[in-house]
Amino acid sequence: MRNSGSYRASKPRRGPRKAGGKTLRGRDFVSVEDFSATEIKQLFRLAADLKARPRMYRKALDGKIMALIFEKPSLRTRTTFDVGIKQLGGDSVYLSPAEINLGKRESVYDVAKNLERMVQGIMIRTFGHDICLSLAEHASIPVINGLTDYEHPCQALADFFTIAEYKKSLRKLKLSYVGDGNNVSHSLMLTAGKLGATLFIATPAGYKPDSKVVRQAQQLASETGGTIVVTEDPFAAVQDADVVYTDTWASMGQEAEAETRRAVFRPYQVNRGLFAKAKTDALFMHCLPAHRGEEVTDEIIDSAQSVVFSEAENRLHVQKAIMIELLRD
Ligand code: CP
Ligand code: NVA
Repeated sequence: MRNSGSYRASKPRRGPRKAGGKTLRGRDFVSVEDFSATEIKQLFRLAADLKARPRMYRKALDGKIMALIFEKPSLRTRTTFDVGIKQLGGDSVYLSPAEINLGKRESVYDVAKNLERMVQGIMIRTFGHDICLSLAEHASIPVINGLTDYEHPCQALADFFTIAEYKKSLRKLKLSYVGDGNNVSHSLMLTAGKLGATLFIATPAGYKPDSKVVRQAQQLASETGGTIVVTEDPFAAVQDADVVYTDTWASMGQEAEAETRRAVFRPYQVNRGLFAKAKTDALFMHCLPAHRGEEVTDEIIDSAQSVVFSEAENRLHVQKAIMIELLRD
């Protein structure tokens, strides 16, 4: 069941609930909104320990099985969830688009009702965010969003964990995201709002982040001391930034728009000229896959300031922490 309104209510689960007050056990992770700042920080502490002492957690999810539903391609998400659950003593079942054909061969409701009898958790990568929400609503087991057209919450948590590894106090940093106002930008904005960070988003007119997400992120920021600014000026966004982040100009499913987008987004390329506006020790970040020569040049993504492969690795540690907390007995 989807955690409605007060998302803190745990899903009904088979078996006894552990005592001990608030817990992530049994919950979904469809949006960054689903976790409080305190819960995100707890996950980061667990992820750091998982990274430092992986062997201590070899039985953490002994015998638990995750269904991994993919309606879009993936390198990082598939590998990190698959390897992650196995490193925790569990296993996974990969379900390709051809196998399920969600909503066509079988309804989302029926998929939820089948899988909850067979596995202990579901990760889904799909197109419509409503599909992920619907799966979470109907499945009695935790559902994790592995990317929808609207959000990529696991990515954003891994990114902020990465920033925290490289930079000390998040609150004193200026983060900038340059490019498309897409799923990744949405989750970064919500995480920045939750954690009280300052994030400038620069997109071309017509490619801004969803106004509802901007409002949500700005509301969160007003409560946490953060700042969320949306602009069309990439140079203003990057000026004196501690982090410069970009993503592909055409997301999965937008391939037909790629040529048009290449022209529109050209001034938003992270190249030597734009990156020079950031602080001299600024990090370059990208969720990957990168389209080298489009949203970023080789000299920036291959520079010593690029932490793109640390972000990718940290997907593993952060998602292991998420799986442990959601799937624990
Ligand atoms: N960043 C990310 O989610 O990569 P994949 O599409 O390869 O999973
Ligand atoms: N915005 C990109 C992210 C890929 C990880 C997409 O949705 O294709």
